Amino acid sequence: MNAPIPHLAPAAAPAADRSFLQDVLGGLRAPRKQLPAKYFYDRRGSELFEAITRLPEYYPTRTELAILDRYGPEIAARLPPGSGLVEFGSGSTAKVRRLLPHLTDLAAYVPVDVSEEFLRSEAEELGRDFPRLRVEPVAADFTKPFALPEDLAGAPKAGFFPGSTLGNFEPEAAAGLLGSFARTLGHGATLIVGIDLVKDKAVLDAAYNDAAEVTAAFNLNLLTRINRELGADFDLDGFSHHAFFDEDLARIEMHLVSRRSQLVTVAGVPFHFASGETIHTENSYKYTVPGFRALARGAGWEHACVWTDPDGLFSVHALTASTIRRH
Ligand code: SAH
Ligand code: AVI
Repeated sequence: MNAPIPHLAPAAAPAADRSFLQDVLGGLRAPRKQLPAKYFYDRRGSELFEAITRLPEYYPTRTELAILDRYGPEIAARLPPGSGLVEFGSGSTAKVRRLLPHLTDLAAYVPVDVSEEFLRSEAEELGRDFPRLRVEPVAADFTKPFALPEDLAGAPKAGFFPGSTLGNFEPEAAAGLLGSFARTLGHGATLIVGIDLVKDKAVLDAAYNDAAEVTAAFNLNLLTRINRELGADFDLDGFSHHAFFDEDLARIEMHLVSRRSQLVTVAGVPFHFASGETIHTENSYKYTVPGFRALARGAGWEHACVWTDPDGLFSVHALTASTIRRH
């Protein structure tokens, strides 16, 4: 076994670790402390998110699954025959499992996720459950350029972006991301996107403040990850979970609130927290159907179809790449 060489460790750290450190230091130096939500998803974070999806208060997952079950054949019919299907932020692959029975001629299924360990184990399990499906996982940050498997070069592409993960981006960044998906998938591609809808504040506040406090554990796990991977000393009892729906901005904000005045050190860099000061860890934007349609059109996607549940809680959209914009 090769022993690590301590004095070379920082220079030899993988690029992903270096950007994690830079993003955390940058976020904590900002006038209003913040951290990028993509870092929630280490193995434990992915497991906690799966636990969230089963909570009684967290309606999005079961509602989207019901839409996929009800309209699966119609949704699948939107994909070009023989497509390579790329899922952005695939997580447990629970959503695509509802479509696969209607997609018997896929060239391949490509789950893309930053949570590498979780991605690989979920992809293996999917491959066992669908032995005729070619599953080609790609561990990547989908906000940065990444390559699709080469054997898909000749196949028409389709994208799948369920779970309202797009809502975790500022609207301008969301439009940018949709534009980059159009470039990745190519002209004429189809994209199936799940989007959570604006609704009563009480329903939204409850979905992000569950009684079992799983969302709180998911939020706090970010500090556990920073402690472990970046040598920080966050005291988990020194921070509490806070989430609320801002009706003017149509978004849930999640924060970690410092319960007292305290000093925290990350990779040797000290940060002061005043009592009540927060780290903004996530936004979760909610859209109206026309609002999302306008966002998609502005990003070069033609809006083809929308499916919703009877209570209008959640929406699934089919988009077609009409124009490929360079930026
Ligand atoms: N699609 C699943 C999971 C949603 S949770 C569902 O609908 O239930 C969001 C997923 O996106 C997580 O698996 C997370 O690891 C992944 N993710 C978040 N930001 C990402 C990024 N920038 N690049 C790649 N994957 C990302
Ligand atoms: C992945 N994403 C769409 C979830 C959401 O609802 O914004 C993440 C989440 N955060 C707290 N609960 C769930």
